[in-house]
Amino acid sequence: VEIVRTISALREALTQCRRGKLLGLVPTMGALHAGHGRLLERARQECGVVVASLFVNPLQFDRRDDFESYPRDLEADATFCAARGVDFLFAPSSVEMYPAPLATYVDVVRLGDHLCGRHRPGHFRGVATVVAKLFNIVQPDRAYFGEKDRQQLAIVQRMVRDLDFPVEIVPVETVRAPDGLALSSRNSRLDAAGRAAAPLLYRALKVAAQLVEEGEVSVERIKERALEVLRSDPLLRVEYLEVVDPEWLQPLEVVKGPAILAAAIWIGDVRLIDNLTVTPR
Ligand code: PAF
Repeated sequence: VEIVRTISALREALTQCRRGKLLGLVPTMGALHAGHGRLLERARQECGVVVASLFVNPLQFDRRDDFESYPRDLEADATFCAARGVDFLFAPSSVEMYPAPLATYVDVVRLGDHLCGRHRPGHFRGVATVVAKLFNIVQPDRAYFGEKDRQQLAIVQRMVRDLDFPVEIVPVETVRAPDGLALSSRNSRLDAAGRAAAPLLYRALKVAAQLVEEGEVSVERIKERALEVLRSDPLLRVEYLEVVDPEWLQPLEVVKGPAILAAAIWIGDVRLIDNLTVTPR
């Protein structure tokens, strides 16, 4: 894998090597794990040239301590990418990405009103803006996003549709540990007790999904049961648990069609999210 630090060097390298090949982009903030591995492998299977980007984007952090404590290890990430056949690892500095304060942002309205967007002001504006920049820098044919960040995926899909970015967004299924916990860079910050409690998040969503599959339509009752599971361990603090429609991510009162069950919890100072898509009988 070739590590590239500047926009101009990346553009030059890609002009040289793309020549009619499909170009796949996997945008990341580093701290790569098997979830990213799945995105990279999928890109490698489908594309002639694979670019991974590694940029801890200050614009999308609503808390400075979270930005500062975000795990960073370029060497390990480069080794990870090399093992998966990535051609270029684009790892720009903050100054390279934001040489001057921005006057232009991408704001995808309504889709960010609930779930994580409600609790992390400015987060999705930061995500959409940096993803738009990455699309303009790399000009990929395909870009790969994990379903674990379901709201991010929906917002990026909408941005691409609304602003005519010539890129196909490929959603990739969440990778889970054997106990169900969705893989996340933040899992490494859990202590042993926190790690033992964390699978309750997935378990609560599964309980909710099963209720829907059994014919329960009342969101109030569905949430009640899932919250019971989450509250069964005092280490967990629930930030939100919502049932929303897949198009606009607006809260539902009854589940009559496909719906997304999504939750965010805190264990100590570690925030975890997960979601499941369900279709009633
Ligand atoms: O999902 C992430 O890691 C980030 O939000 C992304 C898409 C790389 C944008 O910074």
